[in-house]
Amino acid sequence: MRAAARERAIREPRAPARLLALLKELRARGYAHTTVTPATHARVNGRKGQAWARDINGVLGWSRPFSGDVLPGPLLSRLQAADLLEQVPGGWRSRVRVSSLDGVCYLHSAWPTQDPRAVFFGPDSHRFAHWLSEWLAHCRVPPARAVDIGCGAGPGAVTVARHCPQAEVWGVDINDRALAYAAASAEAAGLDGIRWRHGDLLQGLPGEFDLIVANPPYLLDAARRQYRHGGGARGEGLSLRILECALERLAPAGTLLLYTGAAMVRGADPFLARLQARLAGEPVSWRYRELDPDVFGEELEQAPYADVERIAAVGLQVCRPGRCARDDRFTAPRRRLRSRRTRSPPGGVCPTTPWAG
Ligand SMILES: C[S@@+](CC[C@H](N)C(=O)[O-])C[C@H]1O[C@@H](n2cnc3c(N)ncnc32)[C@H](O)[C@@H]1O
Repeated sequence: MRAAARERAIREPRAPARLLALLKELRARGYAHTTVTPATHARVNGRKGQAWARDINGVLGWSRPFSGDVLPGPLLSRLQAADLLEQVPGGWRSRVRVSSLDGVCYLHSAWPTQDPRAVFFGPDSHRFAHWLSEWLAHCRVPPARAVDIGCGAGPGAVTVARHCPQAEVWGVDINDRALAYAAASAEAAGLDGIRWRHGDLLQGLPGEFDLIVANPPYLLDAARRQYRHGGGARGEGLSLRILECALERLAPAGTLLLYTGAAMVRGADPFLARLQARLAGEPVSWRYRELDPDVFGEELEQAPYADVERIAAVGLQVCRPGRCARDDRFTAPRRRLRSRRTRSPPGGVCPTTPWAG
């Protein structure tokens, strides 16, 4: 094996065959399930008569224990073969959930997600993917090279790859289990060209990107779970690191789409204030908006949120102005263009990117 191929084989997880077989089996059965918030999950599972699963959705959507006769034989065998079942008194329980979004089934960790290395997929993944889809549907020049930072179960990278079949798409995460689940989910949906890579943000990934997307952890989590703990004063630490990364690695006319959370204090948005201070004078255009005014309300009962009145889901779009190498309008005719080339003004409108959402 040549050195480059060997390095790819080691560092880019391929979809484990047994996970893929499980997802194909579910696909053949027309399986679908919409994931809900942990609080809703607890309420629904707490209802009378809901303690044990009675069908596939009960097992793989609602993470309920089940007895051996609930699942069709081939599905039970697939789960056993992939080592995804644990024994509980009176039956079994699945270690994974499978949730659908825009027709793709995503593998993620069973509820409740207490494990520090649990693989996240939730209503935030839906909001994030829909925000991306909206932007990609109106994008005048599709990205040639894109990356989803903190890809988790894969919805960001999958959304980009579906909209831009010609693009080189990367999904990076510090959680190997997430990468394996994402690779299997994408491949089962017919998207086997996405490159999944273990890494802290963009470390180890070369080059510039036309599109950087991310839905990172943005809460302050006492247990410091990888999918949940954002660090910083109120959970914004990782989001600010992603912004720094994007400022270094966006290609000319490239765009960052950062979906994250902002903790609001006495009517003010300290995260927005940090952005304003950091981006003042940067040669980029940027916009910011609330996508949902109130998410993870239950967190406000925790001590670090004592002065926080709500957590909003927000979208930050940053565009690096410049000539876009992949836009025909700018690549031909070359000579005339060169003489007219000017720097886009700071805060100027990027020629290739609409405002998301
Ligand atoms: C809230 S989950 C979101 C997953 C996915 N983007 C989605 O929308 O469903 C955040 C993800 O970021 C990953 N993560 C946390 N810190 C990271 C880092 N420094 N570099 C890369 N990924 C990171 C976590 O492992 C987790 O999978």
